[in-house]
Amino acid sequence: METYRAHCLILPFPIQGHINPMLQFATRLQHQGTKITLVTTKFLFKSLQEASGSISVEAISDGYDEGANGVAAGIYLAMFRKCGSETLTELILKLHDLGCPVDCIVYDAFLPWCLDVAKSLGLRGVVFFTQSCAVNNIYYHAHKGCLKLPLEETEVDIPGLPPLLASDLPSFISDYASYPAIYQLVVHDQMENIEEADWIFFNTFYKLEEEVNDWMAKILPVKTIGPAIPSMYLEKSLEDDKHYGLNLFKSMTKACMSWLNERSVSSVVYVAFGSLAELNAEQMEELAWGLRKSNYYFLWVVRESESNKLPKDFLEESSDKGLIISWCPQLEVLAHESMGCFITHCGWNSTLEALSLGVPIIAMPQWTDQSTNAKFVMDIWKTGIKALPDENGIVRRNVISQCISLVMDKKKGQENSQNAKKWKDLARQAFDEGGSSDANIKDFVSKLV
Ligand code: UDX
Repeated sequence: METYRAHCLILPFPIQGHINPMLQFATRLQHQGTKITLVTTKFLFKSLQEASGSISVEAISDGYDEGANGVAAGIYLAMFRKCGSETLTELILKLHDLGCPVDCIVYDAFLPWCLDVAKSLGLRGVVFFTQSCAVNNIYYHAHKGCLKLPLEETEVDIPGLPPLLASDLPSFISDYASYPAIYQLVVHDQMENIEEADWIFFNTFYKLEEEVNDWMAKILPVKTIGPAIPSMYLEKSLEDDKHYGLNLFKSMTKACMSWLNERSVSSVVYVAFGSLAELNAEQMEELAWGLRKSNYYFLWVVRESESNKLPKDFLEESSDKGLIISWCPQLEVLAHESMGCFITHCGWNSTLEALSLGVPIIAMPQWTDQSTNAKFVMDIWKTGIKALPDENGIVRRNVISQCISLVMDKKKGQENSQNAKKWKDLARQAFDEGGSSDANIKDFVSKLV
């Protein structure tokens, strides 16, 4: 008979940037003696590239078991709410009948209806926010009507945060009408029942967002439990915890790691834009020739669906300096001694990973929370710079190569590198025995039973 302290279901929104941190958090809970069942959608379940180790996986329906390609976001979310609520309830009853009753649901803030399911079955409901505390605070203020939209000013003052220009705010706020269904999701759905959740977890660490965390903690029971990256990249107390464990893309690990092994210390520019961002062809071209112009070695992740935008001849012309791959083990890459800097869209996971591994950043935010993350990287944490776009929103090749020269230069890039090292140490300390995230996770597990 398996013995455990409590049984938690983990329900991430089915995209890589949400699965990684939630699965990682689940691994921490498992090491504290909690049984974990990861719940994904039926569609994703079929297309998993890699199983998730010792964690059991179950599937529910989002209403699109054959895939939701081309379905509008608002329609998808409404369908997921309906079918998800029904099939999640069925799953919990099934597990109960199988003698494996559930005590608690840890659900993605994008799936607030999970709290209704939890409460209707007498279970605890824990909401997990995959984005930064600063971003959550901005959405919270917009939800409460304290941040008037559409914005009338070019600069806003939000409690707990430094003054922010409109362009530093998440795109769904600064460009209010751009994606109404996603605006509804992040500003209203995420916050609709937050006050009723038993716990509220943020994937960040206390020292990184101390001021905004303190402000939010005055009104809500928020706890920091991050950075949700494997222990072997932080305090190294869990030897088997090296990978996120569930890849939706096929990784070209061998090719990329052997290429990196041939490079010298701090010599490589790593370029990746996460799992969703789509650069337009003009931006791709500028980035390609900017990398070439910088004359540094570069490792560039171009997802298969993006590869047709690479300029003709680029692969041939740059093969002495660069390697282009469709997906890589990003944590292993960032931890490699050859890493010099990271050109990133500043998705929250990529940002936290770079901070935790001490890699300076060149920020090229695309949409959603990324502009806010980029602002903090450059002006608050000071571990990198933002590559500024022109009036058409394109970051030009000269700007890219100048940014690379600046960050890679030992002297000019010194402040960024020193700060990157400082945050790396603080990220690790959050998981040292008694560190802020370690203490919050242990406190949670102790109260689960
Ligand atoms: C999305 C949003 O875009 C982002 O803004 C939000 O904060 C989280 O959800 P995504 O765009 O995929 O995520 O970016 P990011 O948050 O950086 O997550 C990407 C994840 O994929 C990271 O954990 C990264 O390590 C991983 N990755 C990326 C790889 O493992 N290999 C790669 O080649 C590229």
